[in-house]
Amino acid sequence: MRRGITGRARTREKRSEHRGLDENVGTAQGGIGAALGNLEEDHWEWHMFDTVKGGDYVTDQDAAEILAREAIETVYALEHMGLPFNRTPEGKIDQRRFGGHTHHEGKGPVRRACYAADRTGHMILQTLYQQCIKHETHFFNEYQVLDLIIDGGVCSGVVAMDIATGELHIFHGKATIIAAGGFGKMFKVTSNAHSLTGDPVALLYRHGYPLEDMEFFQFHPTGIYKMGILMSEAARGEGGVLINDKGERFMERYAPTMLDLAPRDMISRFMQMEINAGRGIGGKDFVYLDIRPESINKYKSAPGGKTVTEHELRAKLPDIIEMMELYLGVDPMKEPVPTQPTAHYAMGGIPTDIDGRVVIDAKNTILRGLYAAGECACVSVHGANRLGTNSLVDILVYGRRSGRAAAQYVRQADFAPMLANADANVRAEIDRLTNGTGKENAAQIRREMQEVMTAQCGVFRTSAGLENVKKVIADLKARYQNIAITDKTKKFNTELLEAFELGYLLDLAEATAHSAAARTESRGAHAREDFPNRDDKNWLKHTLIARKSGKLELSYKPVVITRYQPKERKY
Ligand code: FUM
Repeated sequence: MRRGITGRARTREKRSEHRGLDENVGTAQGGIGAALGNLEEDHWEWHMFDTVKGGDYVTDQDAAEILAREAIETVYALEHMGLPFNRTPEGKIDQRRFGGHTHHEGKGPVRRACYAADRTGHMILQTLYQQCIKHETHFFNEYQVLDLIIDGGVCSGVVAMDIATGELHIFHGKATIIAAGGFGKMFKVTSNAHSLTGDPVALLYRHGYPLEDMEFFQFHPTGIYKMGILMSEAARGEGGVLINDKGERFMERYAPTMLDLAPRDMISRFMQMEINAGRGIGGKDFVYLDIRPESINKYKSAPGGKTVTEHELRAKLPDIIEMMELYLGVDPMKEPVPTQPTAHYAMGGIPTDIDGRVVIDAKNTILRGLYAAGECACVSVHGANRLGTNSLVDILVYGRRSGRAAAQYVRQADFAPMLANADANVRAEIDRLTNGTGKENAAQIRREMQEVMTAQCGVFRTSAGLENVKKVIADLKARYQNIAITDKTKKFNTELLEAFELGYLLDLAEATAHSAAARTESRGAHAREDFPNRDDKNWLKHTLIARKSGKLELSYKPVVITRYQPKERKY
């Protein structure tokens, strides 16, 4: 996780009122969900219902209600900041279909995703960055956070390295907001960028605090085969279909109402089942995403059964079409595209309340001075499976709530005294990694972690597989203690920083595997072959996992249920 830190700095010990790190919104390509009802009837209550059902009922419903209600004003706020949304002929924000978003609580797909072609996340990033410039936000670019400073239940800042010099800095803050994105780099095939290694999430875990619902990790159905690069769900929102080796639109068998726009957890599973049954293309481990206009028109799969043209598709999906051409050498207007599920999004992470305050137990005790929002956080608005477009809503709605809560907090809080030697652990770790004489190789350990996580903690899981993952990760963690890096210099030492990141990923893989092994049911993205059914009697609860004095502790906390009682999940 190598990002900018925002805040106001003094000299070596920098003090700021509050600060945040950005996250990987750029890969949320296809849209931001909000029940504007610009093209079809829609209501925030339907959005809330879909979010709860999509999350397989382990979604906290107070959080889902806030998300669905505040999504609307949030999208208009972005519009007023100048975000270049696609428009309807009357000039309203255009909206497209996305997986799991329905009208009348599941009766069929609804056009809820507001979009800027297939670069919505990227446009949000640009729009908010412009606002930061306007408001003279100070960025500490190319600083990497290497520790959270926490003492006596209060967070008083972070330790970060200035990558250009290798110098360590202590940022002393009344409030710290983490918005660091996810940790898809635990897996071999992922849509996540190289830097998505979950550093502050792992750092909190290292401080002995719990992480929530780590077993729920989403695989997005349409990654570019072998590379994992995302081909937005918008491709299916515009009418694209999934096809197996027999030329069948196999989702007709599994989700007769929502078809290729069922939620991601389901589609990824059904793709894998087709592959396992030998119906992958040419018997291999991929199926086709078909966005040829002739296919969309044959299946009448575009919204309203309308006829689409190549020109329209190229205008609405320019980036992913270019990526298919660039990375696969395939013209998707003429040929279907090889695709496979790709590790995309962590539903779990740092537990927070609805104002982004980090909480540390089942009673929601607050860790003062620390806030988290977006993918690194678990509010828990996505439950066991996030709906497409809701990540952007989450980071904006809960990012804003966290910012407001932190701003209010710093007005009345004093600076907590800075710990003596706050950077001692980081210095010791740098010394170990730089001067160690061990023979282990970080790249090899990373490869083995990604292999085992993908094979046995991926779309499908079993008890035997997860026990093996637990063992392999424990072995890799032991070997990690004996890695040595070859670059001993200080400036831009990316080998050193990647070694730190590998350590974080191993911690997060451990938390994921142990949480997954304990949950003996299938729910959302956690699909156990040995426990294929959802078990509300025993498992309608959130997992908390912490490592205290070297020992792993699992505990659980209840799900907040307000409007919707759990029901069977059909699409
Ligand atoms: O498919 C996509 O465009 C991804 C969106 C998301 O993860 O929300």
